[in-house]
Amino acid sequence: MARKPIIAGNWKMNNNKAQAKELMDGILYGISQLDASKMPEVVVAPTYTALWQVYDLIKNEPKVKLAAQNVNPNPKGAYTGEVSLDMLNDFKVKYVIIGHSERRQMFAESDEFINQKALAILSEGLIPIICCGETLEQREAGVTDEHLKNQITKAFNNISASDAKKSVIAYEPIWAIGTGKSCDAKEANRTIGQIRKVIADLYNQETADNIRILYGGSVKPSTIVEQMAQPEIDGGLIGGASLIAESFIDLIKGAMTDEHAVV
Ligand code: PGA
Repeated sequence: MARKPIIAGNWKMNNNKAQAKELMDGILYGISQLDASKMPEVVVAPTYTALWQVYDLIKNEPKVKLAAQNVNPNPKGAYTGEVSLDMLNDFKVKYVIIGHSERRQMFAESDEFINQKALAILSEGLIPIICCGETLEQREAGVTDEHLKNQITKAFNNISASDAKKSVIAYEPIWAIGTGKSCDAKEANRTIGQIRKVIADLYNQETADNIRILYGGSVKPSTIVEQMAQPEIDGGLIGGASLIAESFIDLIKGAMTDEHAVV
């Protein structure tokens, strides 16, 4: 089956207005030099404050899709500091990142809350990028697969097979995020294969064969080609290396079909 790869840049809490414009201008120029037919789906996730501007810059560029880094699952009301799906719809946001370990750990987001977000996102016709991943302690204790199964099972609670099929999962080992220490590509492939098996058990093989599962955690231009060569890895969710236009373009090149660029 052909799953279209995704290269998604998670800008996290970086880039003011001028910096967001400079980065987007660089990405758009780089993309204009590439063969569109071989490109992965390119996604950028700016901060809320840069959404309007990035939306405006890419509105005539169908090769780049917008993601939000978070959303509140409630439709509206007294949720100070939060942003709704209705608001994201103003900017034609296609994807929403949820369950990122930074939100789980620093903002105490529970599996149940992440599931509520996933359900709300899908009911509005957007697509969740559902993150999961183990700590170093869990990996060393040999409980990685069990932990991921638990996170995935809870995140997909009450989600239909047709909605699950459209969703995106990002496997991001916490010990690899922002550390410069990417998970070995073969091990990431094995782990993602296990996640796909969880989806097959929860739903069916067809859903598991269609759902796209990305790897995230210190993905760099020097690691992407080997990562993309793994059959289970459908792309990358990238933080640090997505903040420099040249490096983000190199990541896109590394995920191009037929012609893995020399980077
Ligand atoms: P990193 O972040 O690429 O900087 O490790 C990835 C992520 O947290 O999504």
